[in-house]
Formats: sequence, C-alpha cells, structure tokens
Amino acid sequence: MNISELVDRKPWVAWVLFLGTAVAVFLAGLFLATILDRRGEASVAGVPMTPLPDFEPRNAVWGQQFPRQFQTYLQTLDTTFVSRYGGARHRDMLGQHPEMVVLWAGYPFARDYDQIRGHYYAVKDVHRTLRTNNDMPGTCWTCKSTDVPRLMDEFGVAGFYEQSWRDLGPEVANPIGCQDCHNPQNMSLQITRPALVEAFDRMGRDIQQASHQEMRSLVCAQCHVEYYFDESNYLIFPWDEDGYDAAAQEAFQDERGHVDWVHSVSRTPMLKVQHPDYELFQSGIHARRGVSCSDCHMPYQREGAVKFTNHHIQSPLADVSSSCMTCHSGSESELTQRVYENQDRIVELRRDAERKLAMLHIEAGAAWDAGATEDEMEPVLELIRSAQWRWDFVAASHGAAFHAPVESGRLLGQAISQAGEGRLILSPILSRLGVDQPVEMPEWEKETLQAFIGIDIEAERAHKAAFLQDTLPSWYQSAQHLREGPTDYVPQVPEALPNR
Ligand code: HEC
Ligand code: HEC
Ligand code: HEC
Ligand code: HEC
Repeated sequence: MNISELVDRKPWVAWVLFLGTAVAVFLAGLFLATILDRRGEASVAGVPMTPLPDFEPRNAVWGQQFPRQFQTYLQTLDTTFVSRYGGARHRDMLGQHPEMVVLWAGYPFARDYDQIRGHYYAVKDVHRTLRTNNDMPGTCWTCKSTDVPRLMDEFGVAGFYEQSWRDLGPEVANPIGCQDCHNPQNMSLQITRPALVEAFDRMGRDIQQASHQEMRSLVCAQCHVEYYFDESNYLIFPWDEDGYDAAAQEAFQDERGHVDWVHSVSRTPMLKVQHPDYELFQSGIHARRGVSCSDCHMPYQREGAVKFTNHHIQSPLADVSSSCMTCHSGSESELTQRVYENQDRIVELRRDAERKLAMLHIEAGAAWDAGATEDEMEPVLELIRSAQWRWDFVAASHGAAFHAPVESGRLLGQAISQAGEGRLILSPILSRLGVDQPVEMPEWEKETLQAFIGIDIEAERAHKAAFLQDTLPSWYQSAQHLREGPTDYVPQVPEALPNR
C-alpha cells in the first residue's frame, strides 16, 4: 500500500503528514536561524571569544584574545614611514607652511602644529603640544582615549564635557583602542561617541540601521570629522543643514553667530575647522563607489591560512599592494604617482590661498592701525572669515587631496578668489588712510612670524616644560591601575621605534 492509498482510506494520515512536515520545516528554520545568528556574532571576530567587561580600556587585555590585531595595532607606534605629504614621521607643519602662523594669530594653533601620527600617540601628543593647557575643556579628550566611554558612563555625557581638561587628565591613560570601535561582548563594530549618533539623529537617520560597509567608515567618523563645542562645551557635529557640505556648515555657524576666536591682527571673528576627513571623503570617487575608510587604511592581511584585518592604521601608501591593488591593476608605483600628482596640484592651490590670506590679514591690520572704521572693514572681514573657512576645510582634512581632489580644488579656488576680492576692497581704504602700498610684509618664516604676531615662544615652551615635569608624573601615577596589563601575555613591541 502506498501513501496515497493510505490517505484515501484513512484521511487523518494526511493531517499527520501535513502537520509533521510543518513542524519539521519550522524546526529546520529555527536551527538555520540560530546558525546564521551565531555566524553573525562570530563573523567579525572569526573566532569565538570570552566576553570582556564593559568599558575595558586596556588594549593588552583585548590583545590576549586577539594577538594579531593587537600586534598590528601596536605598530601605530612606528614613526618611520613618510610619503611626499603624509606618513607618521615628524613634520613641523608650521615650519612647512609658515603663513599658517599668521592665519591663526590669537589662536593656539599658531604656537605649534605637527603632522598627525599613529593612534597610539593620541594621548601623549595632547600632553606635549604647546596648544594645550589646564584651562581647556575636558571635551578635548573625547577623541584621544579609550578611557572616554568609561568616563562618560561615570559622569554622564554632558557631565563629562563639563569637566576641565585638568580634572579629567589623570583618568585619561590609554590611547584610542579596541573598545572605541568594538563591542566587548562579541567584537561587532560599535559607535561609542555620542556626537556621531546625535548628528545622525538630527539628520533623521538611525545609526543602528547603518550597513556593515558603512560601519567600516562610521567607526572612523566618530573622530575624523568637523565639530564644535557649544556654550557648555558639549561636542556637536554641524551636520544639521545639509550634512557634509562646507558651505552648509559655514551657513549653519554664521546663523548661530559662532566665533571660535577673534583674529589678533585683522580683528576678524574667525571659525576654526577641525578635521573634516569623513565629510570631504564623501564627495570623492571612492565614497561614491562604496569604498570604506577601512578598505584602504585597514586592509586584510594573510598570515599562513589566517586572514585578518591589519590594525596598523596609517598612510595607505606604506602598503599600496594590500591597500589598493585588491581593486586596482597596473603598477604600484604608477598608482602612487597618481596620488602624488593630485596632491601636488592641491598643495599648489593651498599655498596660494595661504599666502594671499595671510597678506590680507596683515593689510587689514594696517588699515585698523591707520584708523579704519568698523563699517568700512565689515565686508573685508566677512570675506576673510569665509575664505579662511574654505581654505581650512581642505588644509585641516587629512588626506583630502587624495580623498576628494575635485572638491578640495573647488574650495581652495573659492578661498583664493575671496581673498583677492577682500584685497580689492581694502586697497582704496588703505589709500584713503594714507597707508603705503604694497603694505610691508614680514619674512615668511615660522619663528619670525610667531614673533611678529606676538607669541613669546620661549615662555610657551617653559610653561609646557613645567606641566610635563610637575603635573604629568602625578597624572601618570594616579592612573597606573588603568594601565596595568595582564601578566601572562607579553606584547612584542616592534623593535627600535623612533619616538619624538
Ligand atoms: C581609496 C583609499 C582610501 C580610502 C577609502 C580612504 N583613504 Fe584616507 N588616505 C588615502 C591615501 C592614499 C592618503 C594619503 C596618504 C599619504 O599622503 O601618505 C590618505 C590619507 C589619510 C589620512 C592622513 C594620513 C597621513 O599619514 O597623512 C587620514 C587621517 C585619512 N586618510 C583618514 C581617512 C578616513 C577617515 C577615511 C574614511 C572617511 C579614509 N581616509 C578613506 C587613501 C584612502
Ligand atoms: C578605529 C577602529 C578600530 C579599532 C581602534 C580597533 N579595531 Fe578591530 N576592527 C576594526 C574594523 C573596521 C574591523 C573590520 C571589521 C569587519 O569588517 O567586519 C576590525 C576587525 C577586528 C577583528 C575581526 C577579525 C579581523 O581581523 O577582521 C578583531 C578580532 C579585532 N578587530 C580586534 C581588535 C583589537 C584587539 C583591537 C585593539 C587592539 C581593535 N580591534 C581595535 C576597527 C577597529
Ligand atoms: C577615538 C578617535 C579616533 C577614531 C575612532 C579614529 N581615529 Fe584616526 N586618529 C585620531 C587621532 C586623535 C589621531 C592623531 C594621533 C596623533 O597624532 O597623536 C589619528 C590619526 C590617524 C591617522 C594618521 C596615522 C599616521 O600614521 O599618519 C590615520 C591614517 C587615521 N587616524 C585613520 C583612521 C581610520 C581609518 C579610522 C577608522 C578605522 C580612525 N582613524 C579612527 C582619532 C581617531
Ligand atoms: C575597494 C576597492 C578600491 C580600493 C581598495 C581602492 N580603490 Fe581606487 N578606485 C576604486 C574605484 C571603484 C574607482 C573608480 C573607478 C571609476 O569609476 O572609473 C577608483 C578610482 C581611483 C582613482 C581615480 C580617481 C581619480 O581621482 O582620478 C585613483 C587615482 C585611485 N582609485 C587610487 C587608489 C589608491 C591609491 C588606492 C589605495 C590607497 C585605492 N585607489 C584603493 C576602487 C578602489
């Protein structure tokens, strides 16, 4: 007797078969869902893990379970690589672009500004730069240390921002690390900095819905972005109007009447751009093609049969083969040349903008000294503010000349044109006031210009030396418990790392 005959004689058998199949399909589905779920959990780590405590700031503790990622992360200590414009080797940016001393007159950047280097130095460099001092807001620590999420949990987010730099200093011990980007339960990528989540909210987007590929850039957008502090030193990304566009962000700040500082030579109410790396990147071809920051800055690496993400975040030109040749064909040196060609062109425009703007500041200063009125100076100051915003948007954005060459060129072109317009308006004012033209310019050299704008660099250095000798050791002592690493795991710090 076959099944159809049986079903014909005893109809309830059909029901048994039907329900049995339904239950089996349901169970199989449940089983598959569980497997997929597990794979989801494990897909980031590739290995099962023992969950870590919330807010574990010690990278070496994470490193016990993920030695390859940790070893490569430690290589951010390496300061040997240098490319034509980037790399981790020491570069005195004010020495190379002395006009910037004039552009930032009255603002701490005129004292000291170096090329960025690896994440491992983030806390140390903030201690050492002549730009920092005890009176600054605690908010400055937000992008430097993996102790920040722990402290935000302790004080609340607004409470954290309300602290002073000095009060938080002893608690900020570990540089940017694993917990800044990874969930300690399952290693999935996570956003730990509220400013990014809040900016998404205001743009009407839910960051929880971001795709995995987007997350591979958004973890960087926690820090590599333009931002400002409001009256309570609350950290905000100005993406409300039209997201990432330089003109929209400027309009937003103009409307708020935001002034970062008043220029000490031209008396312009200025804006300082931070580092809109993520924003400018959006307008480039790679973002349009869905390439993420991590694709180039954290390429996959193979070690025997194991494939893992290289955590030595640095200039991709240090390893063009892993960073670029996964997508590009042709020779590595040819591709590097293309990067340099773009950068050369943008840097040429950048230097032109810097010189014209610096001259305009000095000429405006001469006009004030000769008795110019606020009314006649107003259009000039407006142009200075706007031109410098556009120049700085590019100058402060690391990698912009490669990430977004066309938009960078456009912004610099606007800056040059606005600076020229400002000088055209100013020239008859200077004539009327009897100021000889061309206005005499100082020598374009860093120290000369620092003295010209009234910086006593020796006093600044002495002030910093006192901090490093008197305050920093006690900060270090009191934070020792935050650093103590596991005893059964000795990281192999790459040998002979030069250190400035
Ligand atoms: C298509 C590859 C690629 C992508 C994607 C990419 N970058 Fe870059 N990035 C580069 C190159 C090339 C440079 C120039 C490095 C140099 O001049 O040595 C660079 C430079 C930088 C620098 C300065 C490094 C230095 O040593 O001066 C930073 C910071 C940076 N990028 C951050 C980011 C961020 C954040 C993102 C995502 C929003 C991103 N990059 C996306 C290729 C890329
Ligand atoms: C700036 C953000 C960032 C930091 C800091 C960071 N990671 Fe990652 N990590 C990533 C990204 C991006 C990936 C790729 C994830 C993906 O595409 O699924 C990754 C992947 C991983 C993976 C998955 C396996 C692999 O290699 O792809 C492990 C494990 C890991 N990281 C461990 C660590 C450890 C340990 C630290 C600290 C020493 C750390 N990460 C610090 C961004 C970060
Ligand atoms: C918690 C904040 C934070 C996060 C998250 C972060 N960065 Fe950084 N990054 C910094 C700071 C601060 C520096 C400068 C450190 C210094 O110079 O001491 C830096 C430096 C760099 C450099 C320069 C390194 C060199 O050798 O020249 C690159 C490239 C870079 N970051 C890319 C990235 C990428 C790509 C991501 C995401 C995968 C990322 N960063 C995530 C804050 C962050
Ligand atoms: C994940 C894939 C991917 C990676 C990794 C990648 N690229 Fe690209 N790149 C692309 C795509 C896609 C385009 C656009 C091609 C097109 O539309 O014609 C592109 C375009 C370019 C262009 C031409 C754009 C222009 O401005 O003229 C250059 C130059 C370039 N890439 C250099 C690099 C370099 C250097 C690296 C490594 C630092 C790199 N790319 C890494 C996918 C990638």
